[in-house]
Amino acid sequence: MARIIDGRRIAADIRKEVREATEELKRTKGITPGLAFILVGENPASQVYVGMKGKACAEAGFYSVTEVMPASTSEEALLKKIAGFNADPAVHGILVQLPLPGHIHERRVLEAIDPAKDVDGFHPYNVGQLVIGNKTLRPCTPAGIQELLLRSGIDPAGKHVVVAGRSNIVGKPIANILLQKAAGANSVVTVVHTGAGDVGRYTKLADILIAAVGKPGMIKGNMIKPGAVVIDVGTNRIEDPTAKNGTRLVGDVEFESASKVASAITPVPGGVGPMTIAMLLKNTLEAATAQASRS
Ligand code: GUN
Repeated sequence: MARIIDGRRIAADIRKEVREATEELKRTKGITPGLAFILVGENPASQVYVGMKGKACAEAGFYSVTEVMPASTSEEALLKKIAGFNADPAVHGILVQLPLPGHIHERRVLEAIDPAKDVDGFHPYNVGQLVIGNKTLRPCTPAGIQELLLRSGIDPAGKHVVVAGRSNIVGKPIANILLQKAAGANSVVTVVHTGAGDVGRYTKLADILIAAVGKPGMIKGNMIKPGAVVIDVGTNRIEDPTAKNGTRLVGDVEFESASKVASAITPVPGGVGPMTIAMLLKNTLEAATAQASRS
């Protein structure tokens, strides 16, 4: 039976570290990290996520502000809002919750955020810095995956990491983080995706398998090499008549069969999920510290 990697505990450790460093920053430099959220429309999952992130900011001792805009908001109005936060010295991080309504160009919006305040790490400047191997603001979920591995005593150096999924939010950035010639990385990385035909042919080769495909239970135990480490990034809500609200959260990995083959595995919920918010706080603290020394 695989060891369970406890993302809730590791995320709580990071949040405590951020809270303590924030106290120190306030005391020694008089700076309070500030994070602005922009939520466009009424996507229920986005509302929940932004609510949780705002609460996490308060617990960390941050200043935070949430701007809720109607789904009918024009791209121009959204860009204006971002420009306001870019110019606001009390705001060190800006997060536009995705997805955006269809009439708004996501790329234009992400590119309007000052790269120094881009705590999601989605601006092309930060993406480029990450690929080159320069220190920069990195996307929260992939940065959290690296942190989960390292804090569980799993060094990815020299390991064959197979990433299933090539999204800009998880697949591409985690592949780029782990292939860097750097401490906590230096992996041999394969990225497998819908173009592969037989995904299992590749996942079976992984020492560390990172599943970020967005398909409930797609990765089965027989697609995993015995003893592999399995990181499940999936957060899929499926119907479950036995559950309280009729739905249940499941990963991209079939936990039942996978946990019999893997040496360590992240559960869903309670694995990668809690790390995203913890790393958002860490990024915002770093952004605030960097901006303080810039001005
Ligand atoms: N939607 C789903 N994941 C994310 C994320 O990491 N950041 C933002 N801004 N929106 C998201």
